[in-house]
Amino acid sequence: MGEALIRGFLRSKVSSPGRICVSVRDVERQDALERIGIGSIFGDATDGGSKEVAQFSSVILLCTKPQAMTEVLQSLAPHVTSEHLVISVAAGITLQTLESALGEGVRVVRVMPNTPALVQCGASAYALGKNVTARDADIVDLLLSSVGFCIAVEEKQLDAVTGLSGSGPAYVYLMIEAMADGGVMAGLPRETALALAAKTVAGAAQMVFGDDGGSNSSSALGMVHPGVLKDRVASPAGTTIAGLAELESSGVRGAFIRAVSRAAQRAKEIGS
Ligand SMILES: NC(=O)c1ccc[n+]([C@@H]2O[C@H](COP(=O)([O-])OP(=O)(O)OC[C@H]3O[C@@H](n4cnc5c(N)ncnc54)[C@H](OP(=O)(O)O)[C@@H]3O)[C@@H](O)[C@H]2O)c1
Repeated sequence: MGEALIRGFLRSKVSSPGRICVSVRDVERQDALERIGIGSIFGDATDGGSKEVAQFSSVILLCTKPQAMTEVLQSLAPHVTSEHLVISVAAGITLQTLESALGEGVRVVRVMPNTPALVQCGASAYALGKNVTARDADIVDLLLSSVGFCIAVEEKQLDAVTGLSGSGPAYVYLMIEAMADGGVMAGLPRETALALAAKTVAGAAQMVFGDDGGSNSSSALGMVHPGVLKDRVASPAGTTIAGLAELESSGVRGAFIRAVSRAAQRAKEIGS
């Protein structure tokens, strides 16, 4: 996720390689970051990396797995001050945990991004900690909207966001793969079926935001209800309603609802 965000920030030009420094353990990942021009690459956060990142940065993004976060926070705490803005993307790790691990007065924001940030089509939500300023909120908004859509939510809603948009790309990949399989079964070559399935998902999503595809600003959503769009393409006794009836009898709607809700529950378990 961290690498997707960095690549997204560079693509959108909200930052440049020379302004980013990274702590990372894996040698292959270090090589990948060097190849995109990141000049300052430090090693393990728990072995000096945190100190160096804090020394050279004013905005620090925490992108390790939630399970590694306790150790990483311990390594960062002695070096972080009220001059830093710390942004965590870890699922389930609360603002209270972050604030009490990093110390009084530290400005903390909790974000749930998703991997399409890599291609400027991310969907992120964020909750602000008690010490953040209006300028911090603007910085978070600037960074996240440079890689897609972003919206402020209450912290208690972030587990739901994790289950929906954080984990959601995987559900959609599964759906695209299955739709393409259906196309192959109906006689299309695999590559054609996959391209048509993926473009259909992207185009249909765009339609929900109206003719212009919407903007990254949460204040100008102007969305069209998907039920209205669905009804527009399902003509009487046509092909689409025949396909929809099949999906409904397979319980697809309920499966998506349960998937989001189970993933949200899992995010809550990780954080407790
Ligand atoms: N993946 C998603 O779609 C997604 C979406 C939203 C939020 N998130 C959040 O993003 C975070 C990362 O998830 P991920 O899927 O991107 O995991 P990941 O691919 O395993 O990335 C975690 C990175 O943290 C590095 N790391 C771990 N301990 C470190 C340490 N002590 N010092 C320096 N680097 C260290 C890992 O390095 P090594 O490779 O060397 O172990 C790895 O590069 C999680 O907290 C997750 O909740 C993920």
